[in-house]
Amino acid sequence: SEPERPKYRAPVCCVMGHVDTGKTKLLDKIRRTNVQTGEAGGITQQIGATFFPADAIERQTDALTRTAKKKMEMLVPGLLVIDTPGHESFSNLRSRGSSLCDIAIVVVDLMHGIEPQCVESLEMLRKNKTPFVVALNKIDRCYAWKSPADSPIYQPFKVSQKEQEQATLNEFKARTNDVIVQFAELGFNAALYYENPDYRTHISLIPTSAHTGEGIPDLLLMLVQLTQRMMAKQLYLQPELEATVLEVKAVPGLGTTIDIILVNGSIREGDEIVVCGMEGPIHTKIRALLTPHPMKELRVKTPYQHHKVVHAAQGIKISAHNLENAVAGTSLLVVGPDDDVEDLKEEVMED
Ligand code: GTP
Ligand code: NA
Ligand code: MG
Repeated sequence: SEPERPKYRAPVCCVMGHVDTGKTKLLDKIRRTNVQTGEAGGITQQIGATFFPADAIERQTDALTRTAKKKMEMLVPGLLVIDTPGHESFSNLRSRGSSLCDIAIVVVDLMHGIEPQCVESLEMLRKNKTPFVVALNKIDRCYAWKSPADSPIYQPFKVSQKEQEQATLNEFKARTNDVIVQFAELGFNAALYYENPDYRTHISLIPTSAHTGEGIPDLLLMLVQLTQRMMAKQLYLQPELEATVLEVKAVPGLGTTIDIILVNGSIREGDEIVVCGMEGPIHTKIRALLTPHPMKELRVKTPYQHHKVVHAAQGIKISAHNLENAVAGTSLLVVGPDDDVEDLKEEVMED
């Protein structure tokens, strides 16, 4: 029998920003993976997806929450984090990622301030009315910044700040203020998250280092708090499926597969699906429903977990017949008991 259906789905969180600001490295630090070093030229060229389970988030935020009067309650099962490319030629992938997400992390290199593809990302988020936080990354590059010794639990920013000499803090403050001015010029109020007067009117800036892990607890806590406070209703797991095809890939032993993002609803092994194809609609049946293990990147080949059912949000690899001509970036539909397959075929081809 199937385990009980969860009440909440995981929020989808999209990581966006200019090239080389440290988007993938931040995710690597949280996951303890080395995806970035395996990329050609260190450049991300595809959308990625990683499930961060609630227990891993609780562990990394414990230093911030254990002294709080009211313990943080994780309502959501975790976060589905989408990595996007920052290179200028991948606007379409940034647009796709931003249209799927509930919340975003915009990564800014503190040494460079706001750069062109960051502006582009902000415009996409503004257009979709998507809330976001900013990771002010590479704080360790401030002159004479003192970072903590390596530890499996990363250091909250407050603790880091105390360790710094005044001159280093002054540089940090000056650079942060420059970024705040740049945001103002773009029409956004922004403030360091611990000085933010109102998260509904001001964007929170969270200082981070993807090399040392400093500020990662703050970033994760902010994401969970914002999603749970601002959009609890939006996060009810719905019966209706919402899913997008990311990639079409041949995998030895599995044949042609599609990688999808399941944004809402639930999907089962054996479900009949309809997707858009280059030579007309594709109607097929899910042979295997696979996910990477938690904290592993969907776009990197890893040992997969097999599932009978997967609830949103998740990055999923689907193995089925006839997927060779599937088109990335289009919707995936599941044929329900009352659906007419011909209607669904028309619907997917409209994408
Ligand atoms: P694209 O996906 O290609 O847009 O880049 P990205 O934003 O994912 O950046 P990536 O993770 O590839 O990092 C770019 C470079 O910045 C790498 O050489 C990283 O080692 C370096 N880097 C990232 N984060 C930090 C940081 O916090 N501190 C320092 N010192 N270097 C960093
Ligand atoms: Na890069
Ligand atoms: Mg990257």
